[in-house]
Amino acid sequence: MTDISEIHALVAKSSTETNAGSRRFLDLDFDKLRGGYYTDFNLSEWMTKWAVRKKNDVVLEPSCGDGSFLEAVANRLVDLGASPAEIAKSLVGVEIIPNEVISARNRIRGRLGSRADTVVNEGDFFDWWQQPKRKLFDVVVGNPPFIRYQTFPEPHRSRAMAIMTQLGMKPNRLTNIWVPFVVAATASLKPGGRMALVCLLNFFKSHMRHNFGRFLLTVLTELTL
Ligand SMILES: C[S@@+](CC[C@H](N)C(=O)[O-])C[C@H]1O[C@@H](n2cnc3c(N)ncnc32)[C@H](O)[C@@H]1O
Repeated sequence: MTDISEIHALVAKSSTETNAGSRRFLDLDFDKLRGGYYTDFNLSEWMTKWAVRKKNDVVLEPSCGDGSFLEAVANRLVDLGASPAEIAKSLVGVEIIPNEVISARNRIRGRLGSRADTVVNEGDFFDWWQQPKRKLFDVVVGNPPFIRYQTFPEPHRSRAMAIMTQLGMKPNRLTNIWVPFVVAATASLKPGGRMALVCLLNFFKSHMRHNFGRFLLTVLTELTL
């Protein structure tokens, strides 16, 4: 599996498949390939409450799935006094799977109305990251995908590895896609910004021994696991 279009074909096949057993199997494969395991809303709310502190915080969710964190952030910003127009200006979500983009937009539509469409960007996070006029954020929240190097489709993988190299790291064929996600997200923060991400503790600790760890400890002033 080397191309995102093949993944989309797999999804299309799974949704038209009549046999429930094989549909479950295909869905499982597909979710594994895109790292599609979503965050419980209670956890998104808890992490968001820590990370988002001011009504004008500018917030990024780099792989927003069906919008668990986006909903939590929109609610939090409303509680802090932001208007729908202000939230739509300061909240950015990115998601590569078109159906999930629709779900995420629908999830925040109650708060933001038609502005929800501009909040959620459809596409590859690494492509979005390479835009020349990309802004910086006060806050990054989310649960980036875990996808092995070998199953991470092109051209997204090459972009991700190029960003790591640009930021002084040496990715290799053991680099899980979660690593460049965290690296690019970290590099999207303003000085003094805060980031709250779901991670697998053992995976994280094992990567801290490599140049990923040096990068994080250089850029971050505080790290809590
Ligand atoms: C672990 S899920 C988490 C979704 C959401 N952040 C949450 O917490 O519920 C990871 C998401 O990353 C998306 N994804 C995978 N590769 C991506 C890429 N290159 N750019 C943007 N999103 C991507 C998947 O489709 C999936 O929705």
